[in-house]
Amino acid sequence: MGKFEVLDHPLIQHKLTIIRDKHCGTKVFREMVNEISNLMAYEVSRDMPLEDVTIETPIQVTKQKQISGKKVAIVPILRAGLGMVDGMLEMIPAARVGHIGMYRDEKTLKPVEYFVKLPSDISERQIFVVDPMLATGGSAIMAVDALKKRGAKDIRLCFLVAAPEGVKALQEAHPDVDIFTAALDDGLNEDGYIVPGLGDAGDRLFGTK
Ligand code: PRP
Ligand code: URA
Repeated sequence: MGKFEVLDHPLIQHKLTIIRDKHCGTKVFREMVNEISNLMAYEVSRDMPLEDVTIETPIQVTKQKQISGKKVAIVPILRAGLGMVDGMLEMIPAARVGHIGMYRDEKTLKPVEYFVKLPSDISERQIFVVDPMLATGGSAIMAVDALKKRGAKDIRLCFLVAAPEGVKALQEAHPDVDIFTAALDDGLNEDGYIVPGLGDAGDRLFGTK
């Protein structure tokens, strides 16, 4: 089974509380999602492998560490995942960015895929899928299906808010992926929204509805 971690750093929790508040407007919502993603990038890359490198400081030659191993791809699930890309890229600026377009049919709650564009060497990359919300898990499962179909192997998913139902469904469908979330909430309501959650992440991020 892959990792499951709640990233409960105080700064992440504080900023998440700000965006959960229904009075938080689009501008601050966007800024906070960006800042939380930045902090999450730091947390989810903690175990990146290092290698020795010899450099010369102004004083002497010395052996130091640099990141080695796979190159990174950040893959937002459209639309709301887009809000997490810049914050991640600030920490991992050389990463490539793939896109998976998916929306939840509001009646059936089933995801509908409409766009997939990934770096051509996706099978060799460490992939960070980003999406603010893991609700039923349908979108995340379908996103991982789409990635694996194209050769992806090393997949981590980063959410702001997850429902236990979504975590369970994702782990059952894809036991090999790692899951990180800033919060694990109580569950889903009858409309498929996370409780207490933060509402519709895409609408709040882009000021639609
Ligand atoms: C939201 C969210 C996830 C999905 C989670 O996107 O960003 O992708 O719902 O729900 P699930 O776990 O039940 O699949 P939505 O479909 O509202 O599209 P949007 O990003 O365009 O707003
Ligand atoms: N998608 C959202 O944006 N919010 C939820 O609570 C559930 C799915």
